[in-house]
Amino acid sequence: MTKSKRIVFESKHGGNLAAASQFFGVDKEQWTDLSTGISPCAYPIPIIPDSYFHQLPEVNNETLLAAARNYYQVESLQIAAGSQQLIEIIPQLRNPCRVAIPDVGYQEHLWQWRKHGHEIVFYDGFNPEQLDSLIVHNKVDCVVLINPNNPTGADVALPALKKWQKLLEERNGWLIIDEAFRDCSPEKSFSAFSHLPNVIVLRSVGKFFGLAGIRVGFVLAGEALLNRINEHLGLWSVSAVSQYIAMCALTNTQWQQQQRITLSENSQWMHQLLQQLLQQSFPECEIVQTPYFISVLIDQKKGEAIFNQLACAGILIRQWPLADIDKQFSNSNKTLLRFGLLSEQQKQPREKLQQLLQSIDGGSYSVINSGTNSVSLCKTYSD
Ligand SMILES: Cc1ncc(COP(=O)(O)O)c(C=O)c1O
Repeated sequence: MTKSKRIVFESKHGGNLAAASQFFGVDKEQWTDLSTGISPCAYPIPIIPDSYFHQLPEVNNETLLAAARNYYQVESLQIAAGSQQLIEIIPQLRNPCRVAIPDVGYQEHLWQWRKHGHEIVFYDGFNPEQLDSLIVHNKVDCVVLINPNNPTGADVALPALKKWQKLLEERNGWLIIDEAFRDCSPEKSFSAFSHLPNVIVLRSVGKFFGLAGIRVGFVLAGEALLNRINEHLGLWSVSAVSQYIAMCALTNTQWQQQQRITLSENSQWMHQLLQQLLQQSFPECEIVQTPYFISVLIDQKKGEAIFNQLACAGILIRQWPLADIDKQFSNSNKTLLRFGLLSEQQKQPREKLQQLLQSIDGGSYSVINSGTNSVSLCKTYSD
């Protein structure tokens, strides 16, 4: 007899197409990948001089650092192999301490601080303003804020950040702000305060420029902290080729202006589609729009059903089953679905998504594992 059970596709990160193919039986080439927050319109790769492949990378590439200083509007920064490399380094710079981490957010922060023996104090990734009470009542030594948050979209304004920075500084605490998704709203960046002795701001070249594969990010911090981070950065952690592409992207202000418009249009298209087609069938769902992705907060069973229906048809989005997450806060019977964007040129995937969303009804579906390697979609209940 075939035994069915609830099985959930779990992936530590978006873009894990090999695992998704194995799970859903969809060919790797067949996926429409909406599982990341990386822009679908990437900075065009320039012609790269041969020498960048043959020579060792420059260690302190002053031309590139000057371009980055200009782009991020700060004096004191350093390049790294993506903001991920910095996320791995920072917890090693302190003796075990109490660190505030969002329960929903880019999970690498949690895993890296935990790995280095720190005590994790969770706060609600949907309501980061909760940090105020943790900081005022001296419940944490360090704060990690993903601003804006991926995937909740929560965005804390500068006055609160300034208050928290000051309070933490008085107690030798750090404020670490992950601004991987800040490029469309630079006026909200904490970069102007990143020289302060207890502040670390992380920026990524991967998301806005659509260049996640070149592995480039920057840390904005005062001299003392930067020196300590430098001790952990490898001598040649960013290749010459990546440095060259990053420099072209960071200096091309015309492309950057157009990219903000393009992302806004792509995001608008996806937002409207989800409002029209998803909210029609599931009026209680909440939709959050950001320039990089659209997040949908929805009842867990329905969310899983939508995720599975799309995946079985070759469209991969990202899901956070909130009840399964180390979570003490609200929304625990819900799932968060994150839809990455489709560019205007991706006409066929746009049509396919539209058709699929039109066919999603109020019923629920589960992936059924038949005991072999095959997976199928079954309607399990309806409301
Ligand atoms: C919030 C956030 N920060 C940092 C990163 C790491 O990005 P990268 O190492 O490509 O800069 C990610 C990746 O998804 C992210 O979502």
